[in-house]
Amino acid sequence: CYSIFENYMTIINVAIFISGYGSNALNIIEFFDKNRLINIRLLLSNNKNSYALKKAKEMGVETVVFNNDSFKNNDEILRFLQSKNINFIVLAGFLRLIPNNIIEHYGEKVINIHPSLLPKFGGKGMYGKHVHLAVLASGDRLSGITIHFVNNVYDDGKIIFQDSVVVKKEDTLDILTKKIHDLEYKHYPKVIEEVINSIFFNFHEC
Ligand code: GRF
Repeated sequence: CYSIFENYMTIINVAIFISGYGSNALNIIEFFDKNRLINIRLLLSNNKNSYALKKAKEMGVETVVFNNDSFKNNDEILRFLQSKNINFIVLAGFLRLIPNNIIEHYGEKVINIHPSLLPKFGGKGMYGKHVHLAVLASGDRLSGITIHFVNNVYDDGKIIFQDSVVVKKEDTLDILTKKIHDLEYKHYPKVIEEVINSIFFNFHEC
């Protein structure tokens, strides 16, 4: 059985923030397509060229492009998120720090994915191919993904989940990028679901 919120039909609205291509965002949107309790409500990008914007719209998700100034200097984005009843925020390749007003409002309801085994290869400037190139240059034989809560320092919040892949000597940037993306697609939606369930629904078997 499920306890606590049995019969209590609430819908958790999720906003996803991206800056780049957005393949993780699309994978998350697909994963939650049939979920009646978790609704991907918004896709926001600070890059009008993000591929996922058009695709997400076709999949029925509202999309928004915003500029970095409106993000950091005032409450505009926070007010917008509140006006859409957003309960939970997912960062998926979003390259800016989340401003304090949003962190303060949402607390541990903002999560991020990073394409390395943090604390290795994290911090400012460590994103996308820069991470993978640094891993390849280091000679490390393991890399992976880290899903973590977000605070106001890059890649610093409490770790929720990690998984690793073997890096072979002959791996190129493309090969490592694909290995990491595959891990991200496999785990990120499920971890998002688990975190939301534990925060909002408190599902457990009786
Ligand atoms: C992913 O590797 C993610 O971990 C990192 O940026 C990349 C985004 O890829 N933060 P995509 O835009 O989802 O294709």
